[in-house]
Amino acid sequence: MALNYVSNFQALLLILFPFIASVASDPDIVSDFITPPNFFGSINGSFFTYTGLRSTVSEPTPQTFKVTKATLAEFPALDGQSISFAVLEFPPGGINPPHTHPRASELLLVTLGTLEVAFIDTKNVPFTQILRTGDMFVFPKGLVHFQYNRNHQQPAAAVSAFGSANAGTVSVPTSVFGTGIDDVILAKAFKTDVATVMKIKAGITKP
Ligand SMILES: *[C@@H]1O[C@H](CO)[C@@H](O)[C@H](O)[C@H]1NC(C)=O
Repeated sequence: MALNYVSNFQALLLILFPFIASVASDPDIVSDFITPPNFFGSINGSFFTYTGLRSTVSEPTPQTFKVTKATLAEFPALDGQSISFAVLEFPPGGINPPHTHPRASELLLVTLGTLEVAFIDTKNVPFTQILRTGDMFVFPKGLVHFQYNRNHQQPAAAVSAFGSANAGTVSVPTSVFGTGIDDVILAKAFKTDVATVMKIKAGITKP
């Protein structure tokens, strides 16, 4: 009986899976918007306003790559709206290292300079492009990608929209080499020796 139930359930999942996968996104809400439980003021235009990106317009490009986010964490009004935003600033030669966003695809618009971008699909096929100011590129959900300002004289900048209020970021270097995975395991995984792993780890800052 229990076995029957499991196999029926699995069969149902197999039938439904393509549908479930194709509609996967932030859950729908049953109100116009969501107010945080600890919010005590009046809800007016200010609640739907985020000013935390002003510095990206008013200040010069930072010396190292910088991402300034407007996601659920910084901007609570995004809760339930399935959308978020980030401003990416690249000094000359700056890089946003390989990473993934597990919960959203990303739509990037270059607003300054040029950017070399790429993502790698699940068959390990790379898709790369050099974008000019005004060009847009989409990074499919969950795939490893990066952006690089190959120009060593001029800064670059981009804005990115995400199809989730909380897209999440998994940085490949930090996730693999900055979280205390055993040196021996990493040496085996990368077919190298412990000394090389330790050298790489020394250059990775913990999250
Ligand atoms: C809007 O709400 C905020 C926070 O609750 C409050 O500080 C502000 O005074 C309100 N503005 C107006 C015009 O009512």
